[in-house]
Amino acid sequence: MIKIKIFLDTANLSELRQAMEAGVLDGCTTNPSLIKAEVDKGMKDLEGHIEEICRILGKGKPVSLEVVSTDYENMAREGEFLYKRFNPVAGNAVIKIPINPSTDGKDNSRGLRAIRYLSSKGIPVNTTLVMTPEQALLAAKAGAKIVSPFAGRIDDYIRSRSGAKFGKEDYFPAGGTGKDDNGIASGVDLVKKIVDIFKTYNIKTEVLAASIRNERQAREVALAGADIATIPFSVLMKMLQHEKTLEGTIKFSQDTVQEYKNVFGIKK
Ligand code: E4P
Repeated sequence: MIKIKIFLDTANLSELRQAMEAGVLDGCTTNPSLIKAEVDKGMKDLEGHIEEICRILGKGKPVSLEVVSTDYENMAREGEFLYKRFNPVAGNAVIKIPINPSTDGKDNSRGLRAIRYLSSKGIPVNTTLVMTPEQALLAAKAGAKIVSPFAGRIDDYIRSRSGAKFGKEDYFPAGGTGKDDNGIASGVDLVKKIVDIFKTYNIKTEVLAASIRNERQAREVALAGADIATIPFSVLMKMLQHEKTLEGTIKFSQDTVQEYKNVFGIKK
């Protein structure tokens, strides 16, 4: 069993089926923006769609489903509802709770309370929108099964603040560029620091590297020791590509003599 898990960051059924058939998928993460992308493409039956995601993944391959409210009572209620509604499909629902959905700086602990409540009921929680190691530590203390540091968004943040122009999938060095976010040099550095703290204190909460923007970042969060990386389908496909692989494929094809084809019964 390979210990790093690969999740797909999508709510798209054909992407999930393709990755499952390829044998590389350990789970899936969704969020309201990924659900919106499917609704925008014309998906009508959202509950049926989520059920199908749970079925495609199947038992033992977690599907993260996010609450939509930002107050404690409703996050707790929605988390329980989502779990009761979708876990029976394949026993793989995980509830996503934002670490701190307060927009006015009041009641910053509502996310932690929802994590604690759901975890105490045996409902697995994936803490989302984690941008600092200290948020990750507190989520773990509250009982979260998973914490999701948003590597790509931290890179975006550091780059935007320094006035850099960049495209969504552009690589940002794991070691940073001299500018940082309160001691965090990059998204990969954020993942690494959380992994280090959890190792130091033997914390069992899994570190899920989220907001992955390119294949090199996927490699670097693996090097940083992430338990899970959730990856967009486009990035997963790029992880398979290399110019020399393509060149070799073409050359082997050109060099396949008829004698070799005969072995397989391939006609001229
Ligand atoms: C996963 O749990 C997150 O919702 C997702 O990775 C966010 O990615 P983004 O920053 O590319 O939207």
